[in-house]
Amino acid sequence: MKTNDINHVAIIMDGNGRWAEQRNLPRFSGHKKGLDVIPEVVEELINNKIKYVTLFAFSTENNFRPEEEKENLLNLLEFALNKVAKEIQKNKIKLSFIGDIEYLPKHLLKKIKNVTRNDEVKYDAELIIAWNYGGRQEIINVVNKLIKQNINHIDETHFEKLLYTSEIPNPDLIIRTGGQQRISNFMLWQSAYSEMYFTTKLWPDFNKKDVIKALKDFKKRNRNYGKTN
Ligand code: FPP
Repeated sequence: MKTNDINHVAIIMDGNGRWAEQRNLPRFSGHKKGLDVIPEVVEELINNKIKYVTLFAFSTENNFRPEEEKENLLNLLEFALNKVAKEIQKNKIKLSFIGDIEYLPKHLLKKIKNVTRNDEVKYDAELIIAWNYGGRQEIINVVNKLIKQNINHIDETHFEKLLYTSEIPNPDLIIRTGGQQRISNFMLWQSAYSEMYFTTKLWPDFNKKDVIKALKDFKKRNRNYGKTN
């Protein structure tokens, strides 16, 4: 693979709350608008030959938000599943989830199972939703699995096979909207050599022009993975 080939783009969608506050709207409106912009952004990435797109939609730390906001986000997830399920299958996009989703209500888990089932379809791209996802928790899960199996020596390849992302390449580019420049417990293992792109644009304002800008910026990077060229 050429150093600047790009296969996987992961996005930390930040700034929904501020977008709403700036308009004197409830935070929920920011999340709703945040959901609305997803199709345009994902479509543009896929048009640019990106095979894997991961969206950080709900972090393990988001569990500490008020009940009402968490419920609103769950409702949006359900709404999205109902709305996009057919659409993405028609467009040959595989949908998958990373994170600990077992706590979700049964009817939602069933819906997720239906839309993420592995059939014989040959997919053009994969959309991965990180939900109740935390990078540290993911690593601890792996360690616990290893302890259970009485394994006392492993290598990186073995470790990677036990991560949620075992079937997904590491992200080449991580985009974070909303002005903060940090990783916030996202893909801690997988981001070891990811290029980072930060923008002050709030997520609900992010659009396909911004996607192009981020991809252009990525192309200029020199990815030497610690080597001299
Ligand atoms: C961060 O903004 C965003 C979130 C915690 C939620 C992201 C969710 C969506 C875009 C909609 C749901 C998505 C799916 C796939 C169902 P923030 O609230 O932390 O913003 P702030 O930093 O301005 O307060």
